[in-house]
Amino acid sequence: MKQVEINNQMVPAIGIGTWHMGSDQAKEAAELAAIRAGIEAGAKLIDTAEIYGKGASETLVGKAIKPYSREELFVVSKVWPENATKQDLEKHLDASLERLQTDYLDMYLLHWRDQVPLEESIAELDRMREKSKIKSWGVSNFDVADLEEVEALPAGKYLAANEDLYNLNARGLDFDLVPWQKERNIPLLAYSPVGGLHNNLHADMLDNPVIKQIAQKHDASVYQVLLSWTIRDGITIAIPQTANAEHMKDNIAAGNLELTAADFAAIDEQYPRPTHKIPLDLD
Ligand SMILES: NC(=O)c1ccc[n+]([C@@H]2O[C@H](COP(=O)([O-])OP(=O)(O)OC[C@H]3O[C@@H](n4cnc5c(N)ncnc54)[C@H](OP(=O)(O)O)[C@@H]3O)[C@@H](O)[C@H]2O)c1
Repeated sequence: MKQVEINNQMVPAIGIGTWHMGSDQAKEAAELAAIRAGIEAGAKLIDTAEIYGKGASETLVGKAIKPYSREELFVVSKVWPENATKQDLEKHLDASLERLQTDYLDMYLLHWRDQVPLEESIAELDRMREKSKIKSWGVSNFDVADLEEVEALPAGKYLAANEDLYNLNARGLDFDLVPWQKERNIPLLAYSPVGGLHNNLHADMLDNPVIKQIAQKHDASVYQVLLSWTIRDGITIAIPQTANAEHMKDNIAAGNLELTAADFAAIDEQYPRPTHKIPLDLD
């Protein structure tokens, strides 16, 4: 299974997204089963956020991971921008930890950049790292210029990841952001890697005949081809979301699918590599 280095440890390049999960009691058993199927298939990184279901996703993740050894997992959560202040961030982190039933996060991300001065949010994230409430911190929905600002801050050298929307049909990041992060060995967490299907963002990829042919040739699913493409560069961890245990197993197994140079070339013809700067896609 392909692995990526994140905060000095290796984790499988396919993780588990949890947006839209945890809010409906009737779905809880299936959602717990899906997350656990992912862990049992080898996934380590689980992505959640305080905003997902107003904490319900974190509560679900807390329940899902209970039977497993905490040290074997890499739990990521996110602080909502307006809470990322000197006054409030620690309170919000504590609430996330309580919902997750854990005493530390492996990584805490600033969910977006908004009104709060970046230096205040980053200083506070770093203070939490120094207090060992989080092992590392990063950002989300940041483009290169924002990352350069973070890098220039006093705690900038501790920037441990950036999470952005990245999939075959939204590959603007390949122009400048992926090379920027690769040069610094800062991993990219790729959200909506199979197309953000809740919002039907990029659903046409699933019907592309070339992608279907490649999937068939490898005896794989179209989802696995999309995920294998996303993690091809060695610094990207894809975090697909599914509430279905079978889909989850399929997704995690994509970490073993090796696409060929010919496959990549055929994919590039369908979804060309960007040749100019493209603004970030946002979900
Ligand atoms: N940082 C941010 O601002 C941000 C924004 C958006 C998302 N995220 C994170 O990224 C995660 C993933 O992004 P996303 O939820 O937008 O989109 P996504 O993972 O690209 O798409 C999720 C959808 O794909 C379906 N799906 C996934 N795997 C499948 C498979 N093997 N077969 C069939 N259907 C499959 C799921 O349905 P089923 O349940 O039916 O399988 C679900 O409807 C989120 O859950 C969240 O953790 C972060």
